[in-house]
Amino acid sequence: QTIYLDDYTAPGWLVEEVHLTFRLAPEATRVLSKVRFVPNPDAPQGQFYLHGEQLSLIGASIDGTPVSPEVTEDGLTCDVPSGAFTWEAEVEIAPAKNFALEGLYMSNGMYCTQCEAEGFRKITYYPDRPDVMGVFTVRIEGEAPVKLSNGNPVREGEGWAEWHDPWPKPAYLFALVAGDLVNHPDSFTTRSGKDVALNIWVRPGDEGKCAFGMEALKKSMKWDEDVYGREYDLDIFNIVAVDDFNMGAMENKGLNIFNSSCVLASPETSTDANFERIEAIIAHEYFHNWTGNRITCRDWFQLCLKEGLTVYRDSQFTSDMRSAPVKRISDVIDLRARQFREDNGPLAHPVRPESFQEINNFYTATVYEKGAEVIGMLKRLVGDEAYAKALDLYFTRHDGQACTIEDWLAVFEESTGRDLSQFKRWYSQAGTPRLHVSESWADGTFTLHFRQETPATPGQPDKAPQVLPIAVGLIGPNGDEVQETTLLEMTESEQSFSFTGLGARPVPSILREFSAPVILHRESDNAERAFLLAHDTDPYCRWEAGRTLAKQALMRMITDNAEPDQAYLGALATLLSDETLDPAFRALAMALPSEDDLAQTLFETGHVPDPQRIWEKRQEMRDAMADAMPDLLAGLFAAHQVPGTYQPDAAPAAARALANSALALLSRRDGGERARAQFAKADNMTQELAALSCLLSIDAGEEELKTFYDQWHDDRLVMDKWFSLQVAYAPPAQVAATAERLATHSDFDMKNPNRFRATFGALTMTPAGFHHASGAGYRLLADWLIKLDPLNPQTTARMCTAFQTWTRYDADRQGMIRAELERMAAQPKLSRDTSEMVSRILAN
Ligand code: ARG
Ligand code: ZN
Repeated sequence: QTIYLDDYTAPGWLVEEVHLTFRLAPEATRVLSKVRFVPNPDAPQGQFYLHGEQLSLIGASIDGTPVSPEVTEDGLTCDVPSGAFTWEAEVEIAPAKNFALEGLYMSNGMYCTQCEAEGFRKITYYPDRPDVMGVFTVRIEGEAPVKLSNGNPVREGEGWAEWHDPWPKPAYLFALVAGDLVNHPDSFTTRSGKDVALNIWVRPGDEGKCAFGMEALKKSMKWDEDVYGREYDLDIFNIVAVDDFNMGAMENKGLNIFNSSCVLASPETSTDANFERIEAIIAHEYFHNWTGNRITCRDWFQLCLKEGLTVYRDSQFTSDMRSAPVKRISDVIDLRARQFREDNGPLAHPVRPESFQEINNFYTATVYEKGAEVIGMLKRLVGDEAYAKALDLYFTRHDGQACTIEDWLAVFEESTGRDLSQFKRWYSQAGTPRLHVSESWADGTFTLHFRQETPATPGQPDKAPQVLPIAVGLIGPNGDEVQETTLLEMTESEQSFSFTGLGARPVPSILREFSAPVILHRESDNAERAFLLAHDTDPYCRWEAGRTLAKQALMRMITDNAEPDQAYLGALATLLSDETLDPAFRALAMALPSEDDLAQTLFETGHVPDPQRIWEKRQEMRDAMADAMPDLLAGLFAAHQVPGTYQPDAAPAAARALANSALALLSRRDGGERARAQFAKADNMTQELAALSCLLSIDAGEEELKTFYDQWHDDRLVMDKWFSLQVAYAPPAQVAATAERLATHSDFDMKNPNRFRATFGALTMTPAGFHHASGAGYRLLADWLIKLDPLNPQTTARMCTAFQTWTRYDADRQGMIRAELERMAAQPKLSRDTSEMVSRILAN
């Protein structure tokens, strides 16, 4: 059953107040609800309907009189009075048997909830839609020593606790946690002087992994006050770490719930990348308090309203806390790897989708990351000041409302006077625009000719031109910038822009800061790319010049059996030796385009990608890098060792990133000697894991892998690394067999999404292994997805995306993938989540 944006109708009844009582028991929790409904004055009432799934209804009444509603699999209807009334119901649910991790479930003996998007209906009968907002009071009864819900604590006694959330909210922001938890407390004083109690709640034993998350929270609270003028609005803010969680984290009002992998951190167990990610996710969930909670979405088609904006805000935060250029380049890498990939395949959809079967399938890179890019473009187009003004208007005008993209764009139109009707296509047209550029030069005038086109995507054969903000600079022949960054605003299919009064033909630096999420096509040669790599003042463009050089070199190796390009190796060596450059930037410049990126590029240039060959040629290039600059690499490695106690900050992390990138290449030639030494003396996970990865990638490290297991087998999060590492670094022909073997290990637990992803996610992210010609990777993944689906549809459906690139490959591989997809589709009780994904991928 498909749901359409165009079919939206306002709710017939609104909720004033909700009282919930939970009598917790693992197999038989009772939920008593008391809801005050009032007819919506702005909409017809129609039939009264409450969502509800997998609930046993014990009894219901209206204004105290028992009623017998008509109950179906997904809800109930009932005759109700014409005015306001009080609905009461009692239901029974079994959290201990809830392996879907949606609604109320148990993780390690602890009760917790996940309601976004439509999980509240598995807790009680309710209008489970984001445009129905109510004030919740929650009473929790049970033995658990700690009992938490949204808002502020009101009262507690022996075996019970009560919470009240004064801010009206949709049901998807409801949360409850109860268990044997310990807290890491702190506090924050808002700029208007309000004291807020802060807590991170964890399982006993994890207390030592909270300090970093707490600092990140306080920094986020301060940053949102300073940059967006947004203060926190309750007396208390709680974060809880949960081991079994489908996604990263959830912004429930006043009670954020986190996948423990996204909050717990310690130098011994977390890498630099983990620390940075944790800081960003804590910020993201905190920022949702305004962009998501105070202003929420009218319906789930508007998901990007809160997610795109909040991702944009958390990326601004990370840029401010760390290095802005490095953050931008990392975001571009991630966008291309996940969002462009999605846009190029059968799962392409607009930032604001227009239909879905299962909304959980639309928590995608397109909605989140492209949604954030769209906001970045808007800010670029209107300017920083106008952006700030528009945001202020958004917050004052829409506080307490459930809004749409139209509302969002209207504040920009009104505060800037700009017509955004064409810009709005970014929300409705799927696919990545291709931007072709050519140049002409005459009489001191340099002209850039642009042409844009967006390929067809499912359901959208024809595309109209979009507004493209193109940031451009010009570099003179001697390497000086002759035109600093200027923003061109392209609105037509074809458009030219001229720069006059130039003394000599410049080299253009186009799409600075990656000013629009497009694929740039420009004829250029290696000399010019090397020139930009050396002289561009824009870090993104500079990095991109190097990236393109590397990509062209690899492409020629793959398609023409060319030797590794000496010009590329030379230019890279020059860049790596430049001590004025941020080590983190140099580490990024050293990384080759991914196997998946190369496969897509081959496909788009008329080749059939062979994953095995791509893997081999990348290995060959890495060997060539190691051979071309042994002394430079050894020097970088030595010069970027960080002495003293581990600190997760950007500067030491950058040094480690460069040293470890050098180490990976050095290890290919030193038999693993340096890596072995680093592993032996490492006192932090960044160094330990980097060393172990280097060893495994040269087929050494068996001993170290055992040591690692002995050292860490009691640490769940580190064990996830142990699982994924072995799959990721196995030789391609062994990848599937390794994953299969690990799935029989006593520490494997398919019910834990982190462990499942550590094993099978690693399989899907190792292309030469996953796409091995034997088909073993495809079979294994399908086998396990079929096993997981009855337990956890959400995680199963998400992992089906591994198959989304299938039409790139040769007929044999396509045939094998099709067979696996069809085998999945034929499962008798396939979930709605997985069946939607499989059928969309098959329809391609
Ligand atoms: N709103 C959460 C976040 O982005 C994501 C929750 C998604 N959950 C889900 N089941 N789809 O911060
Ligand atoms: Zn979010």
